[in-house]
Amino acid sequence: MGQLLFLPCNRLGILSVRESDCKGDSLKTQDEDAMAETHDELEQLNALFGREYRLGKLIGRGAMSTVWSATRLSDGFEVAIKAQRYSDPEGMRTLLAPIEKRLEACREVDHPNVIRILDIRSVIGDDRAIFVVLDRSGPDLESWLREHRPQLTIGWLLARLAEIAEGIEAIHQKRIVHCDIKPNNFFLCQELERGLVGDFSISLTEEESGKHAQEDAWGTPAFVAPEQVLATRFGTSVDIYSFAMSIYVLLSNEYAFEGKTVQEFIYSQMSADPIPLRRRNRNWPTELDDALMKSLQKDPDARHRSAPELVADLTRALAAHTPLRLSSFLHGGDLSRFSSTEVRVRDVLGDST
Ligand SMILES: Nc1ncnc2c1ncn2[C@@H]1O[C@H](COP(=O)(O)OP(=O)(O)O)[C@@H](O)[C@H]1O
Ligand SMILES: [Mg+2]
Repeated sequence: MGQLLFLPCNRLGILSVRESDCKGDSLKTQDEDAMAETHDELEQLNALFGREYRLGKLIGRGAMSTVWSATRLSDGFEVAIKAQRYSDPEGMRTLLAPIEKRLEACREVDHPNVIRILDIRSVIGDDRAIFVVLDRSGPDLESWLREHRPQLTIGWLLARLAEIAEGIEAIHQKRIVHCDIKPNNFFLCQELERGLVGDFSISLTEEESGKHAQEDAWGTPAFVAPEQVLATRFGTSVDIYSFAMSIYVLLSNEYAFEGKTVQEFIYSQMSADPIPLRRRNRNWPTELDDALMKSLQKDPDARHRSAPELVADLTRALAAHTPLRLSSFLHGGDLSRFSSTEVRVRDVLGDST
């Protein structure tokens, strides 16, 4: 059987594509298709936002989204407009209201360490999509570290993590579970000196996540908490788990589990113990593993109570290491495989979950 590639589709019908299905497409056709789509999208964006914003360039592309730069005409404020597209028109019709309600709840978060949602507009029909206007940020932390790790110190990363932790706390104060805390959803501001949390694409209100079993569990394999995998009731402590996992990866450039496939990774989150950092490099202090392993426990109640609490332990553990360069502990590895794509767990593990 061909391996399944999973693309995020945010509760509106999974887009799962077999590798073998992709092989027939020539690159040229894909490029032409992408250019035509980009052109159509720009026209749609201009029709929707042209009176208030001057549209700029395409600045990013996710599996189910495109992100454009734009400038607010009234005051020159720089924004990003994210178009989230859905594969299933029927699903979009029935689920639009809950998605909009969630995004409206996320819009309430107004904090210097969170990328704000400034506006939300939906289009139903052939061009179905939800458009979200966001504060425009600088690069995401995962990409920034990939390029600049040799110049960065542990102290620099700790400062960004402390800011990001405040952002996570602000989200939790508004009773929202982010559900997708990971390094490529952490951003730097445009001046590069402040950390931010972004991307509410699969977030839930605490009321939704805590009320009943989730119809669809979504998450990113390398970071998803075990109770989120099981799609039972869960709360903000899933974000604390994913935050600890993100810190592990940012510090060490390694995953906490050794899995070859998405399935192995998700099973490890549910049943295996993460590999302590000191087993990878003896120079890490024991207190660092103590801090991380506390929030990486399977039992949500045993974790740190908040993201800033975790960072406080981390800061104490690394107090003597702040001037050191991050690259002094570098292990290396390909982190792209399980870090960026959100999956619907049911599709990975089968309906038995
Ligand atoms: N608010 C923003 N400001 C600037 N760039 C952004 C913003 N949001 C997203 N991006 C860029 O767009 C890319 C795609 O983001 P996103 O749609 O969240 O996709 P994914 O999470 O699947 O990577 C990101 O990697 C980032 O480079
Ligand atoms: Mg993202």
